[in-house]
Amino acid sequence: MDRRHTTRVVLISIGAAVGGFIFGFDSSVINGAINAVTDQFALSAAVTGFVVAISLLGAAVGAWFGGPVANKWGRTRVMLLVGILFLAGSVGSAFAFSAWDLAAWRVIGGLSIGAASAIVPSYISEISPAKLRGRLTSLQQMAIVLGIFVALLMDDVLTGASGGAGAEFWWGLETWRWMFLAGVVPAVVYGALALRLPESPRMLVSNGDSDKAIEVLKHVHGRSESETKTLVDSIRKSIRSDSKPSFKDLRGGTLGLVPIVWVGVIIAAFQQLVGINVIFYYSNSLWRSVGFSADFASNASVITAITNVVITVVAIFLIDKLGRRPLLLIGSSGMTISLVLMAISFTQASIVNGQPELPEPWGPVALVAANAFVVSFAVSWGPVMWTLLGEMFPNQIRGLAVGIATAVNWLANFAVTVTFPALSQMSLPFTYSMYAFFALASLVFVFFKVPETKNIPLEKMSDRYKRERRKAGKSTSGSSDGSSGSSGKAEARG
Ligand code: BGC
Repeated sequence: MDRRHTTRVVLISIGAAVGGFIFGFDSSVINGAINAVTDQFALSAAVTGFVVAISLLGAAVGAWFGGPVANKWGRTRVMLLVGILFLAGSVGSAFAFSAWDLAAWRVIGGLSIGAASAIVPSYISEISPAKLRGRLTSLQQMAIVLGIFVALLMDDVLTGASGGAGAEFWWGLETWRWMFLAGVVPAVVYGALALRLPESPRMLVSNGDSDKAIEVLKHVHGRSESETKTLVDSIRKSIRSDSKPSFKDLRGGTLGLVPIVWVGVIIAAFQQLVGINVIFYYSNSLWRSVGFSADFASNASVITAITNVVITVVAIFLIDKLGRRPLLLIGSSGMTISLVLMAISFTQASIVNGQPELPEPWGPVALVAANAFVVSFAVSWGPVMWTLLGEMFPNQIRGLAVGIATAVNWLANFAVTVTFPALSQMSLPFTYSMYAFFALASLVFVFFKVPETKNIPLEKMSDRYKRERRKAGKSTSGSSDGSSGSSGKAEARG
């Protein structure tokens, strides 16, 4: 691909990835607001926890339905819907008058970020040439971590400027309301971008519009007419000609599903079960237990968010060079070691005023281990899981399979987030050991089950799927294998 077209596909991917920014922004903006909300509405701890976590359930629902709706409407229309829902969720949360309507608006925001998380990886991988696909799909994670960083920073700046999240700020509105209202900006930007982004060529072919798909591919990749036609032909062959994608296509011999769908579901669950969001959602209490003051603990969280951004850049450089599997294996090893160190450190904690405190040298050990954990995640499971989900499934089932796997990711996130407070009160060494166990299990799972997808054209992904379906006695695409060598080369050349 020449420079002009490379720039074009990068810009399109960045535009789509703004959905990831909304995802990261929404999951973190609540951090700065929640204490003031709790005071203003006089909430119990349980109701506060509910208001925080309910958006994760909304996200699971949004992810589940995002795929099927995009199959019908196209991916870019769902992006527009994401923008509209997020706009409604942000304005509604900002003007909430009780915990209950705030929870309802958070569900609406959750629906939108869930749908975005299921659509963006598929869209980017469907619009990218195979050689750049890892880097471009990793932009989703880049956008997520930037969203987390901007939300935390903005919470910090607004709190500093007004004197507290509960203090009145512009137009007599409390500061926490402005935090939510800030979500209007990315929502409007995303809606406007969605109107300009080209539809995914794979989606167009699957909806019978091959001419438009040829047009999009020529515009985005700048390939010759004949190369583009060969590629569109191979996409068409890889999609069942006789039916629209449906849940029936996911059926197979392993507990009712084709094994490749299980692989997606399990990696999506592992990404959360290693406990990454315990750091992002509850880090303030972690930093205090290693000896930081309350003020510095909040700065430490911003520093962690910056580390996350920087290491994601490293991952983007590595993903198409080293491949997906090596990164995941390195990440799982690093996470296992650092989580074991955290578990050991917390066996030495004493409880002072209800908070754990670590004596020397265990405070610094836990601090280094927690950061090593974030680095190990950010270079591997953070971006690579989204990349893999976007590219590991064949065209026929991608929308549905990514939706299911992503919904499982959100449910696992919910499970970890709501259980952490109780588990940590019971035993922090046990809690971190449990996350370490999942990190080790993820290592073994990747080693034995996760395929390498680096440089492989999307149309080739149907080979394994077809074998698995045949083994389970289910029918596969009526037409011949869509992954012909020539079409494969056409895409890989990208
Ligand atoms: C995960 C999020 C997490 C973020 C942290 C994402 O890949 O899905 O749950 O908060 O990474 O960087």
